[in-house]
Amino acid sequence: MKGIVLAGGSGTRLHPVTRAVSKQLLPVYDKPMIYYPISVLMIAGIRDILIISTPVDLPAFQRLLGDGHELGLNFSYAEQAEPNGLAEAFIIGADHVGDDTAALVLGDNIFHGQGFSTILQRAVTQVESDKGATLFGYPVGDPERYGVGEADPTGKLLSIEEKPAEPRSNRAITGLYLYDNDVVRLAADLEPSPRGELEITDLNLAYMHRGDARLIDLGRGFAWLDTGTHESMLEAGQYVAVLEHRQGVRIACLEEIALREGWITPDDTLRLGRAQAKSRYGEYVIDVARRAGATD
Ligand code: DAU
Repeated sequence: MKGIVLAGGSGTRLHPVTRAVSKQLLPVYDKPMIYYPISVLMIAGIRDILIISTPVDLPAFQRLLGDGHELGLNFSYAEQAEPNGLAEAFIIGADHVGDDTAALVLGDNIFHGQGFSTILQRAVTQVESDKGATLFGYPVGDPERYGVGEADPTGKLLSIEEKPAEPRSNRAITGLYLYDNDVVRLAADLEPSPRGELEITDLNLAYMHRGDARLIDLGRGFAWLDTGTHESMLEAGQYVAVLEHRQGVRIACLEEIALREGWITPDDTLRLGRAQAKSRYGEYVIDVARRAGATD
């Protein structure tokens, strides 16, 4: 499966913070926001990742992430000239996806919860074998702010609406989407919505109409954090800080995940930690490498 992180948009809801810096590069406590969605793709086992952002911001993502080889990943980059909608990711990313399946994650979505890697790996295997689309739902108190879905007891998607005034359920559709290869053709066939965007919800409706869309509930005990406002950004950072301090582990530490996946060695990890040794994050990476048996 190929991965895409969509990290464009104008970030107007966070002005003036995002006037000169991309939203997805802002810190969520100890690391840039985009680390969190990248970590989601990594724990799903995905190594080929296309980062899409605005022409102005893309060089900063390249500076931050490089070509990914140090993490055993393969990052490539593409511009989205205008924020024409989330589904445009599959038009821009058509060559990247090729004849493979695809996972799209929004660059401002933060997920955290026990058992997430098992859920994700099962979902990836299912899309690879049974085709179709898999979406992830999360109960929220303000569903009218999101895509909202309903599913039958087997998880088959029954309805999906974008920011409905009267939501039919409290299940927000999160910004993580898994698709079979038809997504490339279906995205190319989409018409812009009344607000002029290629809507991800229209893409998901196409799968739903074929009876081919599933909704997996990320229930209680799971965190899907909002970064849409100044308050929710701060709260997301506080959530990460509290958990990390209390448990002594780091959420979305890319070096640690790459090591755990077996994509880099303990010595590689140690080198990556040393390169950032003046920060607590870097100290943590060094610690992880040593505990895994790094030799010096
Ligand atoms: O976060 C989950 C929600 O994301 C879903 O529940 C909705 O169904 C989905 O439409 C989307 O809603 P948002 O209101 O969050 O969409 P927004 O336009 O804010 O875009 C989400 C992120 O994607 C944001 O960080 C900016 C970026 N983006 C957006 C557009 C429209 C792009 O990179 N390119 C784009 O063309």
